[in-house]
Amino acid sequence: MTEEAARRRPWIVGVTGASGTPYAAAVLRGLLCAGEPVDLIVSRAARLTLRDEVGLTWHDDLEVLRTWLREPTDPGAPAPELPATLDVRIWAATDLAAAPSSGSYLTRGMVVIPASTASVAGIALGLSKDLLQRAADVTLKERRRLVVVPRETPLTGTTLRHLVRLDEAGAVVLPAAPAFYGKPKNIQQLVDFVAGKVLDVLGVEHDLLTRWTGRLGT
Ligand SMILES: Cc1cc2nc3c(=O)[nH]c(=O)nc-3n(C[C@H](O)[C@H](O)[C@H](O)COP(=O)(O)O)c2cc1C
Repeated sequence: MTEEAARRRPWIVGVTGASGTPYAAAVLRGLLCAGEPVDLIVSRAARLTLRDEVGLTWHDDLEVLRTWLREPTDPGAPAPELPATLDVRIWAATDLAAAPSSGSYLTRGMVVIPASTASVAGIALGLSKDLLQRAADVTLKERRRLVVVPRETPLTGTTLRHLVRLDEAGAVVLPAAPAFYGKPKNIQQLVDFVAGKVLDVLGVEHDLLTRWTGRLGT
């Protein structure tokens, strides 16, 4: 491993099979445009939501990722900007021996977006049924930043209890709940609000959302 590779401290982005692939795309673009390295894990079920919501046949491959991230959320909108080179490593969700399954692999933290109720349960209970859940468990045990973005409604008492467990374990639970005070004009702006809140928690600079200024009705 080169010295530079050894110094690389990525954010892990875990994409699960909940509806809301545009939220994941917006966070990935935000991190990459800010020059942050990313390790990406796409769960098996997320392949179904990518096919359904983006029309994409997912493979753990950088060119497929680029195709996804260049897909506009709003029909007819221009393709979103991306850096020429993507500093991304894609790990297979089935590969439990991959680097992110160990705490000795240094990362800055992890975002699970969107988070299915199944993955919320798996992470809250420490099941580690795949690399994504194991990486989240490692992130918690190493006391690194973990942001979980659940996407389901309504929620059962069981899921609510799992979310409380995650909060108690140190995760930030950040529901996919866009606000309207920025007067969003399209779907991308609603999506970007949630992505911007995630990047705020990570401490990554962005201009994805309109910040509240304290003036009503402007
Ligand atoms: C098209 C589609 C949309 C889904 N949307 C949701 C959702 O919004 N929230 C959720 O919790 N599960 C949703 N599911 C169910 C999850 O994919 C399922 O529970 C799966 O086991 C999650 O696995 P994972 O967490 O490992 O990705 C959806 C499934 C499909 C096929």
